[in-house]
Amino acid sequence: MYRQKMIVGNWKMNKTTADALVLIRDIAATVGKRTDVDVVVCPPFTALEGASRVLEGTAVKLGAQNMHPELNGAFTGEVSAPMLRELFVTHVILGHSERRAYFGETDAFVNQKVLTAIKNQLRPILCVGETLAEREAGATLRVVQTQVERGLEGVGRETAGGIVVAYEPVWAIGTGKVATAAQAQEVHAFIRSLLVKLLGEAVAQRARILYGGSMKPANAAELLGQGDIDGGLIGGASLEARSFCDLIQAAGAAK
Ligand code: PGA
Repeated sequence: MYRQKMIVGNWKMNKTTADALVLIRDIAATVGKRTDVDVVVCPPFTALEGASRVLEGTAVKLGAQNMHPELNGAFTGEVSAPMLRELFVTHVILGHSERRAYFGETDAFVNQKVLTAIKNQLRPILCVGETLAEREAGATLRVVQTQVERGLEGVGRETAGGIVVAYEPVWAIGTGKVATAAQAQEVHAFIRSLLVKLLGEAVAQRARILYGGSMKPANAAELLGQGDIDGGLIGGASLEARSFCDLIQAAGAAK
């Protein structure tokens, strides 16, 4: 089954709006017309509006890094799905390991966000992945299974079409330690088998499963050459146009 590759830039808490716009313009100028790879950039909330203007008329899509499950109300400091939609945001990263570890996000809370995102025509990028201790204890697949099953609870087959899952081993994020292509492929194939059980064969075969964790131009080709690795969720290497565009190039070249 052919699945178009997807490269998502997760800028995390980096770039003022002024700096973000410089980077977005560079990315748009280099890959803005490419349609053979799905490209999504996820700047901080403060840069979304400006980024949205720059990206108008390009093929680059805009994503947010988080979202609250409620549509409005007394949730100081939070941002909702309609607020993102108004800025032409199409994707939203949910359950990133940094949100889970530093902000106490549980699978149940992440699940509420996933359901709200789908209901509001935002495509969730659901992040899952084990810590080093969990991998060393042989618990990788069990941890990933729980996160996928709980994160997608209540998602209907008919609405799950654009679902994206990102496998990000926590020990590989921002550490320079990348999972081997074989380690990643094993977990990706496992995630796809879970998606078959939860959402059916058709949705599972169409779903993109991204790898995240120190993906760089130097290691991208091997990872992206695996059968179930459909792209990358990129942190550090998405903060410079050159490395991010090289990754998009690698995704376009991967078979
Ligand atoms: P990294 O981050 O590429 O800097 O390891 C990936 C992520 O956390 O999404």
